Formats: sequence, structure tokens, C-alpha cells
Amino acid sequence: PETITIQELSNRMAERGVDVIKLLMKQGQMLKINDTIDADMAQLIAEELGHTVKRVAESDVEEGLFRIGDEDGDLVSRPPVVTIMGHVDHGKTSLLDAIRSTKVAAGEAGGITQHIGAYQVESKGQKITFIDTPGHEAFTAMRSRGAKATDIVILVVAADDGVMPTTVEAINHTRAAGVPIIVAINKIDKPDADPQRVRTALLQHEIVVESMGGDTLEVEVSAKQRLNLDKLLEAVLLQSEVLELKANPTRPAEGTVIEGKLDKGRGPVATVLVQRGTLKVGDILVAGGAWGRVRALLTESGDAVRDAGPSTPVEVLGFQETPEAGDRFAVVENEARAREVADYRLRVKREKAQARGSAARGSLAEMMS
Ligand code: GTP
Ligand code: MG
Repeated sequence: PETITIQELSNRMAERGVDVIKLLMKQGQMLKINDTIDADMAQLIAEELGHTVKRVAESDVEEGLFRIGDEDGDLVSRPPVVTIMGHVDHGKTSLLDAIRSTKVAAGEAGGITQHIGAYQVESKGQKITFIDTPGHEAFTAMRSRGAKATDIVILVVAADDGVMPTTVEAINHTRAAGVPIIVAINKIDKPDADPQRVRTALLQHEIVVESMGGDTLEVEVSAKQRLNLDKLLEAVLLQSEVLELKANPTRPAEGTVIEGKLDKGRGPVATVLVQRGTLKVGDILVAGGAWGRVRALLTESGDAVRDAGPSTPVEVLGFQETPEAGDRFAVVENEARAREVADYRLRVKREKAQARGSAARGSLAEMMS
């Protein structure tokens, strides 16, 4: 059931909390400012104080925001979204660098990826969207989000180090998301590389690669020596063919925020992955409690584009606040609707935080008594 704290109810009515508490007392309820009451009681109190009540259920506000499926239009094939996962330092960023012919890993602080990067490459005339994730143990939530927004996971395992804790964690996230895995056994250039040991260790986690009679695609690679990168891309295209990935590009865009940051000059900047529809300059969108009108769309190389279709990662300028990584975004019909959704979500978030706060105080009081 929906509840509200007395504090929040008072705030929304611009009434004093003590007046609300007095009225509740008349109803036989002895409550304090941080206690919660249900929606019916809140309505009663509000009307008692001469306010008109408009109850907005979550389902009303959120309704129609995310239209599941693309049933409303023509489907065309879209590029696969491929997330690179694996243990820290196993060479995820290096592998992507090798594929893209860039040097992102070399520029990272301590050689450790601390955010999610999204890139698009073209192989044999086909686009592939790659998402890099951090392997450091601190970034579990990011990996979980990465596994959810993807079609395929490339599990990078260093041949000299073998299956490690984050490798296993990545397998579990991927399995939970129901996403197929391609195993990339990296660093095979190293003298102490033992790819066979990797294959055997994966068996314990119910991943049976092709060379052991299973159906999980595997490729031995070296990011450093650029070995077998074409084979890896072939495996990705093969796997994505099986998945028959399609989307309707003509509907309003929906997707996931990959990264959000506040840029000194440009204001809030979000890297988003468009998953359905096409995002256009001028569109109004909401992501979590943030909303905005798209002022500019930039590709990873900084080129301004007019629009971004399904499976495209793109930088969005024009948010009023900075959205959070992992937030879903959707294009809405107008600014009023965007504000309504954003305000509603912020309120829910605040109330949840308050409820957690008073629950914590409650349990502390119990402990002390
Ligand atoms: P996190 O993002 O921190 O999880 O690390 P990562 O998996 O992205 O690893 P990164 O690409 O930063 O590489 C870690 C180290 O391994 C770097 O020193 C790379 O130069 C090295 N490395 C990556 N690939 C190879 C390879 O194929 N062969 C050898 N010899 N070294 C490699
Ligand atoms: Mg990295």
C-alpha cells in the first residue's frame, strides 16, 4: 500500500507538521513527524485542512513511458550491443583498444577502468556496439547494469591468470540477465599462458566451450599483439545473427544511461545507449529524476549528429540535472510530462530515503531500550 510520512504530507500541503499531528490525534492516531500513514488517511487529513486531493499512483505516472516490445511498427535489424566483462587487469580495455585502434587503457588512472565506456565499430560493413566495464571489485553494480543492457557478453579471461572472482561474478550477472557469452581467452602471447586451464576452470561454472564439446563460442586472443581480433569479431557477428536482433527505429527513443557527469562548460552530460526508437535533437526525455530537451547529440569521436537509432551509444547535452548511470530513459511528448515524471520519481526517492532514515532511528531506539 502507498504510504507517506507526516513530514512529507505537511510539506506538500504547506501546512505545519504539528497541525497534521493534532488532526491525526483526533482520529485516534498518536504519531510523530517521521511516522508514515497510508494514502487513505493522508487524503482524509488533507481534505480536513481544505485541500483538494489528486492521488497519483505510480502506474499512472509511469504508464506508457516504456512501451515494452516494438509491436507498433516495422522492425529492422539493429547492431548487437556487446559488453566486455571480466576480472581486473585481464585486458578488457586493451582488447577494445585493439579492436578500435585506440589507446584508452594507457590513459586511465592506474590502468584501472572506473566507468563504463560505449563505442561503436564497423566490421565487414556491420556495426557492433561495445560497452567496456570495470573489472575492479568495487564496481559490481556497474557490471550488473552492463549485463542487463546488452545482447552479448564477451567474457575476457587472461590466459596467464585464469578464472578469478570477478570472472565468476560476471558469469553470474550474465546468466541472470539471460545473455549469451563469448569467451575471449586473452594474453596468449605471454610465456606462462595456459588457455587449456581456463577452459577447464570454466567447466566448473557450467560454461562448456566449443573445443570441449559445448556451444559457447571461444577465441584465443592477444590484445597486445592484435592476434585473432578478426576471429573475435566474427564470433560476435555469428552470435548476433542467431539472436536476430531487431528494433523499430521510427518510434520515440528509449534506452539506458551509461554514464552521467557534470561538465564545467557543457553542463550535465549523459552517455546513453539508445535501445529502441530514434533519439533526435529537440526531443524531450526523462531519465530517473532528471529531464531535459536534447540540445546536441555527439558521437564518441565528438561529431554532432541529428539523431541516434537503436543500439547507438551517444552523448546527450541538454539535461537540466545529471542523470545517473543505470537510469532508464524515455522520450516523452512534452515538457510538462517530463517534469511530472521527474518530480514524481524524485519524490518517491526522497520518501524512500526518509522511510529508511526513520526505520534506522527506530531500530536504534529499540537497541538502546
Ligand atoms: P580493468 O578495467 O581495471 O578491469 O582492467 P582491464 O581488464 O581493462 O585491463 P587493461 O586493458 O587495462 O590491461 C591490463 C594490463 O594487461 C595492461 O598492462 C595491459 O597492457 C596488459 N595486457 C592487456 N592485454 C594484453 C595481452 O594480450 N598481452 C599482454 N602481454 N598484456 C596485455
Ligand atoms: Mg579496463
